[in-house]
Amino acid sequence: MTAKYAVILAAGQGTRMKSKLYKVLHPVCGKPMVDHVLTQIEQNEMDQIVTVIGHGAEMVKSTLKDRTDYVVQAEQLGTGHAVMQAESLLGDKDGMTLIACGDTPLFTAETFKELFQYHQSKGAVGTVLTAQTAEPFGYGRIIRNDLGIVERIVEQKDATKEEAAVTEINTGVYCFNNRELFDALHKINNDNAQGEYYLTDVMEVFQKEGKVVAAYKMKDFEESMGVNDRVALSKAAQVMRNRINEKHMRNGVTIIDPASTYIDADVEIGSDTVIEPGVILKGQTKIGSDCVIGAHSEIRNSVLGNEITVTSSLIEDSVMHDQSDIGPYSHLRPQAEIGQGAHIGNFVEVKKASIGENTKVGHLTYVGDATLGQEINVGCGTIFVNYDGINKHHTNVGDYSFIGSGSNVIAPVEIGDHAYIAAGSTVTADVKPHDMAIARGRQVNKAGYYDKYPVAQAAQKTEAAKKNN
Ligand code: UD1
Ligand code: CA
Repeated sequence: MTAKYAVILAAGQGTRMKSKLYKVLHPVCGKPMVDHVLTQIEQNEMDQIVTVIGHGAEMVKSTLKDRTDYVVQAEQLGTGHAVMQAESLLGDKDGMTLIACGDTPLFTAETFKELFQYHQSKGAVGTVLTAQTAEPFGYGRIIRNDLGIVERIVEQKDATKEEAAVTEINTGVYCFNNRELFDALHKINNDNAQGEYYLTDVMEVFQKEGKVVAAYKMKDFEESMGVNDRVALSKAAQVMRNRINEKHMRNGVTIIDPASTYIDADVEIGSDTVIEPGVILKGQTKIGSDCVIGAHSEIRNSVLGNEITVTSSLIEDSVMHDQSDIGPYSHLRPQAEIGQGAHIGNFVEVKKASIGENTKVGHLTYVGDATLGQEINVGCGTIFVNYDGINKHHTNVGDYSFIGSGSNVIAPVEIGDHAYIAAGSTVTADVKPHDMAIARGRQVNKAGYYDKYPVAQAAQKTEAAKKNN
């Protein structure tokens, strides 16, 4: 088997993005563009992958970690110069080398595989991946001779009028015989409109030396889209989004309205789950089977089991176990864990708290820094008071307990199993199992006091007016 190497070009600043963030790190569907490129290349059983870094080098490294080797291009003198930096790691090796840019996030592993195969079948020293488009502006043009053989690639800025009219473009992806590539790179110059060392010029070097060059034209131009500004970024994201949604639908997920459904690249969803319109699923989210993710819910980096219903809620860095449900209009903040069959109703906020099996937190409640056991009922408007202004404190509530509505549970406090908190209590001391706590002022009724207040006169007027009507 021929050894396979890849070089990813990712040293540019990306001026046209007008951004503090380096171009190749801009995310498309939650994943930096250069990560998409690497992920697809990785699927081709590569022997070595080298990423050329420059602008934002440290950030690119911390994004891609040790999935690739790195070489630094200190000054960005062009794509040919960029590949040249990889000579120290690859120069003396036999095999074939794939070149891809960090700003073309839509290429698939299959296309790279086809390119390798085509390159080998043609016995070429260099094969460029091309595409056909009615709008070639900005891309390098593929100039073929009368026999249809590629003579050279001309950049937009160097193209004559006739050359600019060519609609076959350079996608920026190539496959080379590795040794021939580095030999040829020593022979290119920067005598062009941009004063750069163009990688594309190696094709002309090969051609002049009578070596076999080839061009593999891909079917789908869209896949080759290069992102140089934010307009292209949004277009690429749309293509990626459609692709992701389609993958899930083919896997058995119902997506009611794909056009308004935003699912990040790494999200996993089980079959027979239904995704309603306006849903956003981000980051490393995993959702099981037979769930319903209701309209306008957003789930970030969270893990949901099976048969879960989410109704118009926001879930962040949390876990929901099988058959639990949430919403409408509730919020799981980081480190919430909702037990099997547990119910989180409407207007509930849970943060750094675990809610046991079948426990119900139905209405208008805040649970922060607490561990709730199983089969508990938390009444409406309960607040787990966790913060004294400086520190956060924790509360535990035992199994089968009942917390009456409108209670304040002031942490730290321990409420045992089978405990009962009377509604409206402000609990500041521990409650033993099977005890009841009632912690509120006693009610006093004052006979006839209503009439002493101005409200009484106003009410009299209203009542009188109604009688006269
Ligand atoms: C390049 C091609 C063009 C092709 C297009 C496809 C050349 C000369 N031109 O043009 O034919 O149609 O891609 O998208 O190759 N980079 C470096 N170091 C450098 C210069 C660039 O690492 O010194 C990296 C950039 O970060 C980027 C990639 O190479 O990821 C492509 O560079 P860019 O400036 O975007 O090239 P294009 O003008 O798009
Ligand atoms: Ca580009």
